[in-house]
Amino acid sequence: MHIGVLTGGGDCPGLNAVIRAIVRKGVSVYGHEFSGFRDGWRGPVEGDARPLGIAQVRGILPRGGTILGSSRTNPYKVENGVDRIRETLSGLGVEALIAIGGEDTLGVAKKLTDEGIPVIGVPKTIDNDLGATDYTFGFDTAVTVAVEAIDRLHTTAESHHRALVVEVMGRHAGWIALHSGLAGGANVILVPELPFDLDDVIKHVESRFATQYAPILVVAEGATPRQGAEVLKSGELDAFGHVRLGGIGQWLAERIEERTGKESRAVVLGHVQRGGSPTPFDRVLATRFGLHAIDAAHERDWGKMVALQGTDIVRVPIEEATRELKTVPLSRYAEAEVFFG
Ligand code: F6P
Repeated sequence: MHIGVLTGGGDCPGLNAVIRAIVRKGVSVYGHEFSGFRDGWRGPVEGDARPLGIAQVRGILPRGGTILGSSRTNPYKVENGVDRIRETLSGLGVEALIAIGGEDTLGVAKKLTDEGIPVIGVPKTIDNDLGATDYTFGFDTAVTVAVEAIDRLHTTAESHHRALVVEVMGRHAGWIALHSGLAGGANVILVPELPFDLDDVIKHVESRFATQYAPILVVAEGATPRQGAEVLKSGELDAFGHVRLGGIGQWLAERIEERTGKESRAVVLGHVQRGGSPTPFDRVLATRFGLHAIDAAHERDWGKMVALQGTDIVRVPIEEATRELKTVPLSRYAEAEVFFG
């Protein structure tokens, strides 16, 4: 079979490990041939592809990013997007696609499958917000980066008797904030799932200062004050209708300074959480996803996505991953509250 591979949406560490596993097993065990499409769905829409063989995937396991490039192109927002994909595939003799992506890329994969284009999905996102899979690769690396930053911020915050607010990514899910805050010993963790009360936050900050320690607050970019709205970078929407989040960390640092009289600073970790080499956990998960994805393609089990359930890799219908966002249950958040203040 001739199979196309693409990576769509925000990149994350481990994408190359998936590509490598698909190609290594696909060529050496099954004898399939591969094309790599450039920049997510833009590749098949515009016919931008290159051959992908074992030589092209050598040495990429520890590399962050994606050798195929990525974009947030939505073929359903491009004129004749789906027809153009069909033309590209038939022109190259590509019979099926393996799409590695988050909710948007997989949403397109599901629609294309329904329209008769055979697709297998592989879930990725640092946000860990896809349903049907316990974890997505990239998440562990993002948390590791955030925890290293938080560990460093503790020492400088204490030297200067300051509050430091660390804003992490995660869009509308608080997984990165919860895990990095717990692992980094944060004194307050704020997640989008539970709008926060500014008075409570100020109390925690004051009680931390009262014990002669400097408070570290981890805030998810999608967190909102109870009487307020999401803080947005701009009102602009991407091709999938998402707004750009960011700024809540600065907003909160200013409120803390006003209300407590203590110096406060905001640190936005931003894309550093998505860059660089994947952790061993993410390399293993990504590799296993790749191996199982090529098995699914070989068996022509179209419309399926590989997923981690417990320690097993299973196959689920793609729509199970995208049906609803996997957010932090309030009971999980409550576990962390014992460390606040
Ligand atoms: O979905 C991954 C993610 O990194 C989110 O955590 C974040 O809100 C968004 O992508 C940032 O997107 P961009 O790279 O387009 O700025």
